[in-house]
Amino acid sequence: MDQYVITGGVPLVGETEISGMKNAALPILAASIMTDETVTLENLPDVDDVRVLIEALRSIGADIKYIDRHTVSVCGAGIGSCEIQYEYIKKIRASYYLLGALLGKYKNAAVPLPGGCNIGSRPIDLHLKGLNAIGGNVKILYGTIIGKSERLHGAHIFMDTVSVGATINIMMAASRAEGRTIIENAAKEPHVVDVANFLNSMGANIKGAGTDVIRIKGVKDFHGTSYMIVPDMIEAGTFMCAAAATRGDIMIKGVIPKHLEAITAKLREIGCEIEEFDDSIRVVAARRLSRTHIKTNPYPGFPTDMQPQIGVVLTLAQGTSVVTESIFENRFKYVDELTRMGASIKVEGNSAIIDGVDCLMGARVSSPDLRAGAALVVAALAAEGTSVIEDIKFIERGYEDFEQKLEALGADISRVSAEGKSGRLKVRTS
Ligand code: UD1
Repeated sequence: MDQYVITGGVPLVGETEISGMKNAALPILAASIMTDETVTLENLPDVDDVRVLIEALRSIGADIKYIDRHTVSVCGAGIGSCEIQYEYIKKIRASYYLLGALLGKYKNAAVPLPGGCNIGSRPIDLHLKGLNAIGGNVKILYGTIIGKSERLHGAHIFMDTVSVGATINIMMAASRAEGRTIIENAAKEPHVVDVANFLNSMGANIKGAGTDVIRIKGVKDFHGTSYMIVPDMIEAGTFMCAAAATRGDIMIKGVIPKHLEAITAKLREIGCEIEEFDDSIRVVAARRLSRTHIKTNPYPGFPTDMQPQIGVVLTLAQGTSVVTESIFENRFKYVDELTRMGASIKVEGNSAIIDGVDCLMGARVSSPDLRAGAALVVAALAAEGTSVIEDIKFIERGYEDFEQKLEALGADISRVSAEGKSGRLKVRTS
């Protein structure tokens, strides 16, 4: 498996362009088969998770053509099966969006239980509860989620926990049910809004996405559309943290600054200078940053997907910070790796107590999951000496051209094949 070799200690300076949001692209791709007419999707990120989902959709008969690297046309008219094979699904958690899409369109779906990042127990009870409330007749049989319904109908659904995936899945299926559905305590993430906007552009009638209450009036059919996916706030946030950790100066282009407010507020609080423009944001870290406390929360709170990256920034800040994870229980798997680079962190329950150190030192570390892997890259960029980051397949699930974008900002990063070269690599520590 390929690795990144990074020699750090260089402030990242320059401009970078953000790709389309992976977590919006996946449900939108899944939903694009809900019409027999052609759908054109623009600003699709070229990342592994998207490629896997495209293959899964092709495997049931969807006709998907790349118009250019970031634009596809999708036609769901030729779909001959509602049964997704496990080989696609084990790789990506977002495969569960095929459940809402197929059930909404065909009233029939068989989707193996999802894989994806191991960041916690990740149950799907809320998906099942919501889909059953609208008549989906969904159950788990032999590791597969099966839904078969004569008729989907509207329902009043109260979500016990705020769930992005369950909100989107229910929204997709309910938009093709008979009657009205209300989802209370809905997730408000920008990708929930993006999926609602996309479904509305296909003819759905969804109101209130981005608030706690989403109201859906079911429609009989959808039609073709052309849609551009929003920029990836987590990719943008990762570059913001890279600027902060390396004491750099990065202009991050093609973003929606509003989506980044929780990250911007925290970075300002610890001493970064941040300028917001219409569709870009500049992060400057001119001096050593200071401590703070952070707790992850559903949007508009601080995103759990940014917790490892900000954890790295705070590792290098002056004083003691506490980072509390309130969404997923296994999100501190980067801490042991970071400790090998010289960090001083103690995990107690769902909090990490971080004593800021003056510098990190290059080491050989391994990516535990997608965001933790990206955080270790940020750590390596800030560290003195050379680091080797193993298992970068996790990072490539969600970051397009990561090493090229970092290289353009002055990073000393290269990608090597573990089989071919790792034996000869020496980790430089001074
Ligand atoms: C999505 C994102 C992920 C992000 C997360 C939270 C995708 C592909 N993934 O994951 O990157 O970290 O939102 O912003 O978009 N829960 C239940 N029952 C359920 C569903 C969820 O108890 O049926 C719990 C989860 O264990 C977790 C919380 O709800 O504690 C939030 O999870 P959820 O928002 O559903 O995360 P995902 O949609 O899986």
